[in-house]
Amino acid sequence: MDSLIINGKNRLGGTLCVHGAKNSALPVLAASAAVGGECVIYNCPDLSDVRATIRILNGLGCFASFENGTAVCDSRLLCENEIPDKSMRELRSSFIFMGALLSRTGKASMCAPGGCEIGMRPVDIHLSAFEQMGITVSIENGRITCEAPDGISGAQINLSFPSVGATENIILAAVKAKGFTYIRNAAREPEIEDLADFLNSCGAKISGAGDSTIVIEGVDSLHPCEFYVMPDRIEAASFLACAAVTGSTLTVQNAVPEHLSSVISVFEQSGCIFDCSDKIIRIKAPQRLHKMKTIRTMPYPGFPTDCQAIIMSMACVANGTTIINENIFENRFSHAGELNRMGADITVSGRIAIVNGARNLYGTSVRATDLRGGMALIIAGLAAYGQTRIDSVCYVDRGYEKIERDLAAAGADIRRESNGRVKSG
Ligand code: UD1
Repeated sequence: MDSLIINGKNRLGGTLCVHGAKNSALPVLAASAAVGGECVIYNCPDLSDVRATIRILNGLGCFASFENGTAVCDSRLLCENEIPDKSMRELRSSFIFMGALLSRTGKASMCAPGGCEIGMRPVDIHLSAFEQMGITVSIENGRITCEAPDGISGAQINLSFPSVGATENIILAAVKAKGFTYIRNAAREPEIEDLADFLNSCGAKISGAGDSTIVIEGVDSLHPCEFYVMPDRIEAASFLACAAVTGSTLTVQNAVPEHLSSVISVFEQSGCIFDCSDKIIRIKAPQRLHKMKTIRTMPYPGFPTDCQAIIMSMACVANGTTIINENIFENRFSHAGELNRMGADITVSGRIAIVNGARNLYGTSVRATDLRGGMALIIAGLAAYGQTRIDSVCYVDRGYEKIERDLAAAGADIRRESNGRVKSG
């Protein structure tokens, strides 16, 4: 298994370019199964989760390939509506295939999805919405089968929580349903808008994506399209955090500043200065970060749970105490213990973390336990004195394309080791 070795305290500089968004590319790829033609999807990040999604598409009978950031999926010959457990367990967003397959074939069967261990992550909101759309749901030996032999009906759906995945699954199930579907208290994340843009380019009639009420008018058929995936706002925030903890000035290109409003406002509290223009964010970090006001993770446009771990690494080296309240996932602080091994002073109690900023962190051996937690360790490693070794980098590879290449280009001393052999720096 790969590890990253970081010699900390280097200043970063220059420009880093953000890749396409993982959380948009994955549902868009799954949605291409619903289309019944050849879709070309540009700006897909080269991630293990993207490759796992391509494998699922091929397993369903599609011709899917991925090369140089472009995914091509011809779903005309799709012949399966069951996904093997092993593929499902590789990633959380595999469950979005439920909506896509229902839309295409009227039936889908799969087990509960996998993904990072950050909480229970049930799918009850998805299934209850399906039932309201006339879809029968049965669960046997862990396999969930959804079926709509008489077609899917539009419905008025009020979500008990604005779940991102449930909103995406309902949109997919509704695109070819009879009549109108209304999703109230829908998730408003930019990736929802990207999925709606993709489906609308395929002939769907979705309005309101990005707002809390989404209206979908069912259409008879979809047609293929070419689509460009939006930039990854979490990768952009991660690059900014790398600059923040190293007192650096950095330009982050291909980022949408409006997608990061809540994140930028917290960074500003820490003393970072921003200069934003179309698709470019410039950050100038202070010598020492200031403590931040209590950070509460919320559905978009609130502070994203996916940035909680990276902001914790910033709080670790700030000049005071920062409190972090994780409201979205019940088990998303496993990086705190690893950060403490590097000299951080973090106490976790339930959904609250109290982070007493330390003047210095010190490199040691740590282990990534999930995707964003792994990125938090990289950020801490950049800030620390001495050498940090981060094991189980496979988690980081789920969401960051060749992270060591990008950070090394910006001036970090970072390299990858594979079974003890240096791979790249
Ligand atoms: C998506 C993102 C993930 C991000 C999360 C929250 C993708 C591939 N992943 O995950 O990076 O951290 O949004 O912004 O886009 N819940 C239920 N029942 C359900 C569905 C969700 O209780 O049926 C709960 C979850 O356990 C969690 C919360 O709702 O506590 C948020 O989940 P959700 O918004 O669905 O996140 P994901 O779509 O899994």
